[in-house]
Amino acid sequence: MARKIVITSGKGGVGKTTTVANLGSFLAKFNYRVALMDLDIGLNNLDVVMGLENKVVYDLVDVVNNRCRARQALIQDATIPSLYVMPSAHTNVKITKEQLKVVIENLDPYFDFILFDCPAGIEEGFHRAVAFSDEAIVVVTPHISSIRDADKVLSILSSYGLSDVNVLINRVRGDLIVNKEMLSVEDIHYLLKSKIIGAIPEDDNIGTLSSLGGSLTGKGDATRAFYLLATNVIDGTHKIFDCTLNYRGILGSVRRHLKKKV
Ligand SMILES: Nc1ncnc2c1ncn2[C@@H]1O[C@H](COP(=O)(O)OP(=O)(O)O)[C@@H](O)[C@H]1O
Ligand SMILES: [Mg+2]
Repeated sequence: MARKIVITSGKGGVGKTTTVANLGSFLAKFNYRVALMDLDIGLNNLDVVMGLENKVVYDLVDVVNNRCRARQALIQDATIPSLYVMPSAHTNVKITKEQLKVVIENLDPYFDFILFDCPAGIEEGFHRAVAFSDEAIVVVTPHISSIRDADKVLSILSSYGLSDVNVLINRVRGDLIVNKEMLSVEDIHYLLKSKIIGAIPEDDNIGTLSSLGGSLTGKGDATRAFYLLATNVIDGTHKIFDCTLNYRGILGSVRRHLKKKV
């Protein structure tokens, strides 16, 4: 049986799809069998972010309409063989909970993890994704509006009785935290009163990858932060990447100064 984890958020554009793509890639690099399911129907872009949009033959809507079997619609990643993506439709087609249940039940025996890319907010699409999840990761950015919306999502999630609910903080700027111009991980933990499972730094490489397609590689801070997130998900730990490390001490104050000038 797969561990089914929904990646959700109150606000849109905070990094759900980025998280699904990169967390999924690292889990698969640890040799787990991973399926990424795009449940952001109509606004879907997981296939594009993964660089697989040209390989889409069937999508989730074809599966629920019996035009193909669930496994036929899966696209295997070009570089990580145990990673698969279930693309979604570009039009806002209605899919019922019952239809989705059948698809997930079909995939369940073949995977260790199924990650759901969920639509933002608390509408029908959110409930449809959460209904079949065992666990949730709520993505926030260190801004009050994102945290306020995440708080609503967290309170709704508490009624679902999931086995684990965690918060992931994305787009963290270590220089701004040290300058006390951005909320820190501790501040957000205090405000949301929820477990923090990771902190991902703001990183230009992520923006570039989103447009070119593919997941993070190399030795950058965002790569290290997603690697740590994957180990936390696997082991149930809460080791948080320190986004402020490069901005402390004398060298750090020079970096902060330079960053302000950019
Ligand atoms: N840590 C980050 N650093 C820089 N850009 C990021 C980061 N996380 C996400 N982004 C960018 O923010 C935009 C929205 O991210 P996305 O994952 O599509 O959000 P969502 O799925 O929640 O709508 C994308 O252009 C993405 O490249
Ligand atoms: Mg998205």
